[in-house]
Amino acid sequence: MRCELLLLLAAGAFFLAPRVSSVPAVSAEEKFLFKSWMKQNNKKYHLSEYHHRLHTFLENKRRIDKHNAGNHSFTMRLNQFSDMSFDEFKKTYLMRLPQNCSATKGSHVRRLGPYPESVDWRKKGNFVSPVKNQGGCGSCWTFSTTGGLESAVAIATGKLLSLAEQQLVDCAQDFNNHGCNGGLPSQAFEYIMYNKGIMGEDTYPYEGKDGTCKFQPNKAIAFVKDVANITAYDEEAMTEAVAHHNPVSFAFEVTDDFLSYHKGIYSNPKCSKSPDKVNHAVLAVGYGKENGIPYWIVKNSWGTSWGNNGYFLIERGKNMCGLADCASYPIPQM
Ligand SMILES: *[C@@H]1O[C@H](CO)[C@@H](O)[C@H](O)[C@H]1NC(C)=O
Ligand SMILES: *[C@@H]1O[C@H](CO)[C@@H](O)[C@H](O)[C@H]1NC(C)=O
Ligand SMILES: *[C@@H]1O[C@H](CO)[C@@H](O)[C@H](O)[C@H]1NC(C)=O
Repeated sequence: MRCELLLLLAAGAFFLAPRVSSVPAVSAEEKFLFKSWMKQNNKKYHLSEYHHRLHTFLENKRRIDKHNAGNHSFTMRLNQFSDMSFDEFKKTYLMRLPQNCSATKGSHVRRLGPYPESVDWRKKGNFVSPVKNQGGCGSCWTFSTTGGLESAVAIATGKLLSLAEQQLVDCAQDFNNHGCNGGLPSQAFEYIMYNKGIMGEDTYPYEGKDGTCKFQPNKAIAFVKDVANITAYDEEAMTEAVAHHNPVSFAFEVTDDFLSYHKGIYSNPKCSKSPDKVNHAVLAVGYGKENGIPYWIVKNSWGTSWGNNGYFLIERGKNMCGLADCASYPIPQM
């Protein structure tokens, strides 16, 4: 598989490289820290790979310590990704193709009315399903999609379902989606609308790899009547949509510091705002403001041990990392 092959190549490269000169000395304390991290994360390596992973881990740790010693609106920490370089991470967890995330003509109608200072759909009722884990597949867009529709159905009916990401991985290709290589929530909502439904997690379980379509119409449990695309770059319309309608699916560009995010408001002056650079999709379930900085509350799909119980905050109002390039939410069919 892609991931294991990479590890082998990386281990091989280590052996070919001059081993003495370029590798910084590792203290007993650092080795101990790595061993504890391995134990905590259930990691085991062959001896050759161990050295390579140790050095990547220590590089990540130094970057995290440096960041946390500075004055930033968010902190970083070690997590399950800390033995990977960003290049490895990109190939395994992020969308690999440039997506057609651009200038969606907005069909979401803006209301000219005030909206609250802050909203959190997790606190309004049982409207947001638990954080899921996409594993080593660029299927973020399917989790952003199911999350958005799960909330829409819960808001309309009071019933919180868990919907099938794997159906979107296997079946939504005709709408410019590409399984583990990426896709977009707006295109996946379109697929569910034209396909006449999506099955539940229980009848179409998640596998985290590309497969053949096994959709059974009589087992569909959620339906889409219409897709509301938010006009590109109109972040205020996104805020209005979250305030008045539903959590909103959006895509953005993940860069290396984001992997180690712990808590606080993520902000990055260097990531791209450009629609052809988005490589991850997530779900905004609320927004607020802290110490004068407006933020989004966002549900990720990297499990609950990542970030702040699986969630992150990201600065709002600046199209941070392109988050307002292509946002959408579904109108459920009852
Ligand atoms: C930290 O950064 C904030 C925001 O940029 C600034 O207002 C504050 O003065 C900084 N604090 C220190 C100690 O540099
Ligand atoms: C973008 O849209 C064009 C035209 O519909 C399509 O041919 C192309 O495959 C799409 N790209 C992706 C990554 O889906
Ligand atoms: C919403 O976006 C999708 C995917 O980009 C597109 O196929 C659809 O036509 C758009 N809908 C409207 C009403 O503009």
